[in-house]
Amino acid sequence: EQLRAIVRAMPKAELHIHIEGSLEPELIFALAERNGVSLAYESVEHLRSAYAFTDLQSFLDIYYAGASVLLKEQDFHDMTQAYLQRAQADNVLHTEIFFDPQTHTARGVAIADVINGIYRACQDSPVSASLILCFLRHLSEKEAFDTLEEALPYRDKFIGIGLDSSEVGNPPEKFSRVFARCRELGLRLVAHAGEEGPPAYIRTALDDLQVERIDHGVRCLEDAELTARLAREQIALTVCPLSNTKLRVFDQMHDHNLAELLAAGLLVTVNSDDPAYFGGYMNDNYDAIFEALPLGLAHARQLSRNGFIAAFLPQAQKDAFL
Ligand code: ADE
Ligand code: ZN
Repeated sequence: EQLRAIVRAMPKAELHIHIEGSLEPELIFALAERNGVSLAYESVEHLRSAYAFTDLQSFLDIYYAGASVLLKEQDFHDMTQAYLQRAQADNVLHTEIFFDPQTHTARGVAIADVINGIYRACQDSPVSASLILCFLRHLSEKEAFDTLEEALPYRDKFIGIGLDSSEVGNPPEKFSRVFARCRELGLRLVAHAGEEGPPAYIRTALDDLQVERIDHGVRCLEDAELTARLAREQIALTVCPLSNTKLRVFDQMHDHNLAELLAAGLLVTVNSDDPAYFGGYMNDNYDAIFEALPLGLAHARQLSRNGFIAAFLPQAQKDAFL
C-alpha cells in the first residue's frame, strides 16, 4: 500500500546495528571455507534453521559462534561492505555501527585488523558511517579497561563506546569507572539497557555511566517516573522491533510497545540490531511495525527524523539530512 512505499523510501539513520550481527549465513560459510574454519553446521540451511531463539542468551551463543569465521582484516571489511550495501538499499543515509572487539581478540585476532577492516569499508561507502566500540558486559571491568587501552592507537577511527551482551546480572554500574575514562577521552557513550533487564538498569546507565542514548530501553514503561524523565530529557531509545520479537521480549509484533513509547513523548528510533539473525534490515523492521501497530504517516516521519536527531553528528550535517 501507499504508506508502506513512503516508509520504505524515507531517509533513515540507523543507530543500533551490531556489525557481527549482519553476517549472513552465506557469508559465514564463505569465510569459513576461505579461512579453513570448521563449523558445527553442515549447510547454510542447517545454520539458518538453528536461528530459533528463546531469549537473549540463546541468540548470543549462536552469534558468537558465527563470528568465529572472522580472522583477517579483509573478513571484517567484506562483512561491513555487505552491510553497508544492504543499508543503502533501504535508504539508510547514516549509520552508527557497533563492533565487539573482545569477541575477536579473545580468539587471537589483532584489534588492528578488526578496526581497520571495518573502518576501510566505511571509508569506501557512500553511506555516512561511524563506529562505536562495545564492551562485552559478561566480561570483567579489567577486560574492558584492557580493551580500551588496546584500541587507543585507533582512537580516531571510532566515535563512541557501547555496552552489550548478556544484560541480566551485568548491570551498567559494573562499568562505571571505564565509562568515566571513556568520557574523559571525549568518546560518545551509549549502553544496552532495559532490553531484558529492569528499568533500574536504564537509570544506572544514565546516572552512573552518563550515556547519551539507551539501546533498546523498551522496559522503561514499567517505571512511570523514569519514562517521564526520558521524555523530559529527550534521551533517545534505539528500539529494534524484529529483535524484540525474535528474542521474546514481546511475543508478537502486535504486543510491541513502540506506539506507547511514542505516545509517551519519547525519542524513539527504529533499528535492526542483528539483521542477519532476526529476519531483516531497516525496511523490514519498518514494514513489521507499520503492519502490526496503529501507526500512520505522522509517526513514520517522526521516526525517520528521530534517527537523525539522535545521531552523533554535527548539527549542520543533521540539518543536511533532515
Ligand atoms: N549483542 C548483539 N545484539 C545484542 C542485543 N540485542 N543485546 C545485547 N547484546 C547484543
Ligand atoms: Zn543490540
